[in-house]
Amino acid sequence: MSSLLETGRSHDCGALRGRDVGASVVLFGWVHRRRDLGALIFITLRDRFGITQVVFDPDLAGPVQALAATLRGEFCVAVEGTVVSRGSNINPQMPTGEIEVQARSLEVFSSADPLPFNVADDAELDASEANRLKYRYLDLRRPSLQRNFVLRSRLATLTRITLADMGFLELETPYMVKYTPGGARNFLVPSRLNPGQFYALAESPQIFKQLFMVAGMDKYFQICRCFRDEDLRNDRQPEFTQIDVEISYATPARVQAPIEALIRRSWKDILDVELPAEFPRLTWAEAMARYGSDKPDIRFGLEFVDLTDLVRESGFRMFTDAAHIKALCVPAEHAEPLTRGRIEKLTELVKKRESGGAKGLAWARIGEGGTWSSPLTKNLSPEIMAAISERAGARPGSVLLIVADNFHVTHQALGTLRLELRDSLDLVAKAGLPPWQFLWVTDFPLFEKTDKGYVSSHHPFTSPRADHIALLDTDPAQVLAQAYDLVLNGNEIGGGSIRIHRSDVQAKVFATLGLDEAQIQQKFGFLLEAFRYGPPPHGGIALGLDRISMLMAGATSLRDVIAFPKTQRGTDLMTGCPSGADDEQLAELFIGHRGLPTEGS
Ligand code: AMO
Repeated sequence: MSSLLETGRSHDCGALRGRDVGASVVLFGWVHRRRDLGALIFITLRDRFGITQVVFDPDLAGPVQALAATLRGEFCVAVEGTVVSRGSNINPQMPTGEIEVQARSLEVFSSADPLPFNVADDAELDASEANRLKYRYLDLRRPSLQRNFVLRSRLATLTRITLADMGFLELETPYMVKYTPGGARNFLVPSRLNPGQFYALAESPQIFKQLFMVAGMDKYFQICRCFRDEDLRNDRQPEFTQIDVEISYATPARVQAPIEALIRRSWKDILDVELPAEFPRLTWAEAMARYGSDKPDIRFGLEFVDLTDLVRESGFRMFTDAAHIKALCVPAEHAEPLTRGRIEKLTELVKKRESGGAKGLAWARIGEGGTWSSPLTKNLSPEIMAAISERAGARPGSVLLIVADNFHVTHQALGTLRLELRDSLDLVAKAGLPPWQFLWVTDFPLFEKTDKGYVSSHHPFTSPRADHIALLDTDPAQVLAQAYDLVLNGNEIGGGSIRIHRSDVQAKVFATLGLDEAQIQQKFGFLLEAFRYGPPPHGGIALGLDRISMLMAGATSLRDVIAFPKTQRGTDLMTGCPSGADDEQLAELFIGHRGLPTEGS
């Protein structure tokens, strides 16, 4: 047993300042860097709290000097010594830069093999992401990642304090649940005790938190893991964490108020940013009409201009055949980079399937005196061109970009284009708005129509607006939901709704989703039954804790705020997971190898 370990550390590696000069201290940490200046050996010692310089002077450190000479990067050590001033060698870059520790004793807790990559400094990071994930415990030592996890931890703590102060109970729900269709694809877990039967890993605590309301818990929250077998992106992981909330006697405003309070407090305490007293609200219809997105980035303008009524009678086929004709007007001061070549590239972009699959992109550059330079000049009258310019606020130098198609294509294509221009023309910085633009998007359609019929836009427990219940029978596509998403800088960071608490309305929604009576009973009988025993009206929301941490930390991938994340292919490169199961295990679970793809297929 090491004696300094028993003594314990007196300070962490970020604590010492000029006022501590003369103190006798014990520090533990990793050898961050090492420098030999002749007989003098300098190391910097690092832990999660900071970095402190230590000097081994042969006159003082005596026999310790030989041991110090063996130190290499990432050895885990204890140093005991005296705090001395660095005099004129102060390092203003380091919070501990006024001092260094003159070592008297040194203990090596453990040595380290040469590391697969450099963890001391992000600028020197010389590893692929795959290698970083394989050695994640080393990657996590990097100070920039440590900062992210300190932030994430504070956010979780503040969530607990803030919601508990407001009277929310922190309660847990099961992860192994009954499979219920309609949401994300579930992971299935075979039940050994019930051959041929499966649990699903909960994609969210949705039904259970509603049952908490039936059970009289009144206000519930949970920091909860959710599991979804989806295709992954930078802002999606197969297991992620929600701040899950449900309240009884809810209205949208009563759900949103505590969430805004939590967000405001987190931004103040963690980032020292004062957010506005109330977040703006847009209906889904408005968000789509103005930004072509249900999670619009409102840090810059470039809103859509609706030209449909203006060009309807133009006689030009491209316009008369389309239901929605909309434009972006890039102001003259930003439009210079939009050469013909660039516009051709943008045209390719809007034609891509994932950007909506528009048939093309019409454009016009406005010249002096309002003249148009555009392939459209032969198809449109001067009056119509003047009217378009006026509605769009186009000035000499402005560029108009126009898409004419059905609702979906026009809005998706221009929405994609708007974000592309945001990035390539640096519009956020140029707009100079406060950097955190929150927004509630409300009144989503209750259903989306697909080839296979109606699916829930949010989930099947979302309540229609009271005045739209009758429409469930006549025109489900028109029914609007009491649903709301919280959006930050174009990212969906939360979503929730007022729930259905009436069995008859819930049954009608299930029926619209194409579930017959037997399926409804089999999948959701327990919920409908619960609603027969005096359920309070209720509603809630879930915030994406990982996404919020990512945005607060200024990171671009969830992998920078999830300690042990999965790759895009859903694998864990460190432990080698998922992995096969042997025949014996499978037999115990009554599962065969049937249907496994063969190598290379
Ligand atoms: P929803 O499915 O909208 O709502 O999820 C809520 C929030 O969770 C985050 N999120 C994700 N984060 C990382 N990886 C993922 N794969 C992922 N999927 C979602 C998003 C999202 O806004 N039960 C409802 C909530 C409710 O109605 O109360 C639900 O789960 O930030």
